[in-house]
Amino acid sequence: MSFPFFSKLRNKKAHLKTIREELDKVRRAIEAQTEHFSPYVRDYMRQICKARGKMIRPGLVLLTAAATGGIRDRHITFAALLEMLHMASLIHDDVLDKADTRRDAPTPNALWGNELAVLLGDSLLAQAMVMGADIGDTRFIRRMAVAVRDLCEGEVEQSTRLWDPDMSRADYYELIRKKTATLFAMAMSGAGYLQELDEELIGQLNRMGTLLGISYQIYDDCLDLTGDDTAAGKTLGTDAEKGKLTLPVFFLMESTSEDVAEQVRRAVEQHEEINYAHLRDTEAFAEAIRRSVDEGLARNAEAREVLWLLPESPAREALAEMTYRLDELLQDCCTD
Ligand code: FPP
Ligand code: MG
Repeated sequence: MSFPFFSKLRNKKAHLKTIREELDKVRRAIEAQTEHFSPYVRDYMRQICKARGKMIRPGLVLLTAAATGGIRDRHITFAALLEMLHMASLIHDDVLDKADTRRDAPTPNALWGNELAVLLGDSLLAQAMVMGADIGDTRFIRRMAVAVRDLCEGEVEQSTRLWDPDMSRADYYELIRKKTATLFAMAMSGAGYLQELDEELIGQLNRMGTLLGISYQIYDDCLDLTGDDTAAGKTLGTDAEKGKLTLPVFFLMESTSEDVAEQVRRAVEQHEEINYAHLRDTEAFAEAIRRSVDEGLARNAEAREVLWLLPESPAREALAEMTYRLDELLQDCCTD
């Protein structure tokens, strides 16, 4: 199926333009939350909340709301709390991955040590939950708690399956669905829920968010092997160091180049870091990235199909543009 009226990156920032004011409101809502902390905690929180992220999850909330009847105050609160949840999870993730840079700035663990970073992540998570409770809908707060549980479960599965030769590609997809796609799905379906859409459409929005979240993590996993720390603004290469089995690793183990497949399988079995310095220029590496990128592109195309269920609007167009932007990011990872 083709999408004649979904523009292909006609204007890369168009999707942000349609929600620029509301995104500013979200940023201000996050900054305002730092005032709820005691003076001992507040300065740390201010510093954490100052770092500018890509605001993908708030963007998905706002655009979904705008495409289904309009952005309400509760969408701003929801977008802010979702970004805070995401920030909390990244603070913990950077402790686990021993990463010292994120969003072009030193991570909390690099600045203040692991102990304080974990506690600050917990505090931010708790404040996000307070905001969720303030929305005043038990069903909604339950869904959010389930999303956080899934997110944590995904991380536990990842931590317990490092270098695991029994891990399958299906296990990988389930793991990234939990650790990354959960918040994307929550962003879109939660926006739909707060808009009081029917269950069927909320389910479809959840599916679209899941597809985009999986595709985004595939991109992130390719970037970890092909990107550059300075351009990415964060520490890369940690997946290989830790023994995370990401999609390109599965494709390397299945490579038609027997030498490469054997080398990678042996490294995984012996819990050794895969030697990418030797692999990066090979045909097999380029093919593994290309196959991974294709998996992401296929999910983006499937995600775009859901947009047909929404009425034509600039916000729907902007959502389509976001999916094309993700296509482009994925394609930029290709080394062939
Ligand atoms: C980034 O993965 C991390 C996640 C998608 C989720 C992290 C979740 C936790 C640590 C559980 C704790 C959760 C809360 C809410 C406190 P990555 O390492 O692949 O990506 P990166 O390259 O951006 O670091
Ligand atoms: Mg990480």
